[in-house]
Order: sequence, then structure tokens, then C-alpha cells
Amino acid sequence: MKPKGTKNSFTSPVINEMSLKLPSLSVNEGMARAAIAAFCSQLDPLPVEIADIKCAVSEAVTNCIVHGYKERVGTIYITVKLCNEGIVRIEIKDKGCGIEDVRQARQPLYTTDAENERSGMGFTVMESFCDKVRVYSKCGKGTTVTLFKKLQGK
Ligand SMILES: Nc1ncnc2c1ncn2[C@@H]1O[C@H](COP(=O)(O)OP(=O)(O)O)[C@@H](O)[C@H]1O
Ligand SMILES: [Mg+2]
Repeated sequence: MKPKGTKNSFTSPVINEMSLKLPSLSVNEGMARAAIAAFCSQLDPLPVEIADIKCAVSEAVTNCIVHGYKERVGTIYITVKLCNEGIVRIEIKDKGCGIEDVRQARQPLYTTDAENERSGMGFTVMESFCDKVRVYSKCGKGTTVTLFKKLQGK
């Protein structure tokens, strides 16, 4: 737990921004991960911070592909904002099936796809590699996951 008063509100002004729109094909998971890592590298992150970002992005994009759109191919919308004080905000959005109960979906080990050997640890991974994870979802409309990370020493 961070001491009271030190919690970052992640509202620093944006200094650079990138948008990416990709079909929900599994080959694009690696593409999204690499593109976002390359864009974030201008903030001169530590190698471990880039690895954290890649892992979290990977989980969020995979969820759009396997859960959001399932068998069909839809579009994944990604926005990356680099902000003052080394704050990175990554928004990953799909217009797929949505999540009925976000609180339940975020529980460790919860999965609706156990038959495909999913671990149910995607949101937990995102939370452990980022400083904050925001999930907004509406059934039948889609899901938006926003990952916030503050790079150290910035
Ligand atoms: N983009 C999404 N669209 C629809 N459902 C989702 C999405 N992301 C996550 N979910 C739901 O939340 C559950 C938990 O996700 P996660 O923690 O990544 O575990 P896993 O992907 O292994 O099931 C999924 O099983 C799924 O039901
Ligand atoms: Mg997952």
C-alpha cells in the first residue's frame, strides 16, 4: 500500500500520443506489443519497465481477441499517451461482447474459458505490472482497458 497522499492521479499533461487500429488476429498481439514498446522507449524506460508494459499489453490485447471477438474478427483500438513525469497511459478497446461482471472478471483465476486452458490470471498480471488498471465494459458493446504506469526516476 502506498502511504496516503502519494497516490498518483495520473492526470499529467500529455506530451506525445499514438493511435493504432488492428484487426483482432492473433498475429497482431505481438505487433501491438512491439509497437507500444517502441513508442514508450522515447521516455527512456528501464528494461524491466518495458518488459512490464509488454506483458500487460499482451494480456489486454489477447483478451480482445479471444474473449471480446471470439471466433469473429473485429477491430482493436489502441491509444498510447506519454505524459509528464514519466506517466504512460495505454488504452486498449474492443467493440466485442463486453463483460457482464467486471469485478468478478478481475478476480485471480476467474475465467469463462477454462476449456481452452486459460488461466484466469490476465487481469491479475496487468495489475501487478502496472500502477493502475481501469476496466470499463458494457454487455454487447465492448470493453476498454486502460493501463497506467509511472516510469521510475522520471
Ligand atoms: N475484452 C474482453 N471482452 C470480453 N470478456 C473479457 C475481456 N477481457 C476479459 N474478459 C473476461 O474476463 C475473464 C478474465 O480475464 P483474464 O483475467 O484475462 O483471464 P483469462 O483470459 O485467462 O480468462 C475472461 O475469462 C473473460 O470472461
Ligand atoms: Mg486473458
